[in-house]
Amino acid sequence: MKCTNNPRRVMAAALFTAITLSALPVGAQTADPAKPMAFRSAMDKLGRDMQAVTGAISGEDWALVAELVPKIAHHDEPPAEELKAIHGWLGSHGGKFHRLDEQTHKAAVAMGNAAKRGNGKAVISAFEKVQQSCLACHQSFRKSFVEHFYAKR
Ligand code: HEC
Repeated sequence: MKCTNNPRRVMAAALFTAITLSALPVGAQTADPAKPMAFRSAMDKLGRDMQAVTGAISGEDWALVAELVPKIAHHDEPPAEELKAIHGWLGSHGGKFHRLDEQTHKAAVAMGNAAKRGNGKAVISAFEKVQQSCLACHQSFRKSFVEHFYAKR
């Protein structure tokens, strides 16, 4: 079989290149101040981990939920320099931000404990608490965070 002349292969290769290029962070090509921060990658990961938990809950795979929980309870910390910038921006709101972060942590730990007991109902109500805690922080901080760190030119 000839591979190089197979139009579907060529298409697939072109598509792959296009996807790979569009997936590059904007800041990778330019010295744009709006290049994605480590904080955003950590949030992206949190979002994906929560999706994985949803899948595990649907499959009633409590062992998998328990395995995923530490990723949510202990999310990645941005590098020191970025943390400093975030703290500087938070100013007197730092306490509230950390309280909300702590709430997510606690709710995730509770979800993990329920999963270890194989208690599906408790897992699901803890899941709701985790998601509520994500929402609480997003409602208070997300818009102004993005405006401050990304929208300024
Ligand atoms: C202590 C505050 C806080 C908590 C708690 C929090 N987030 Fe976030 N999250 C933010 C902020 C601020 C942004 C905006 C950051 C940005 O866009 O760079 C954000 C953005 C996001 C994004 C969008 C990232 C993107 O690429 O635009 C996702 C997804 C996300 N969070 C998921 C979660 C999930 C899931 C949880 C709970 C398990 C959670 N977050 C808990 C503060 C928080």
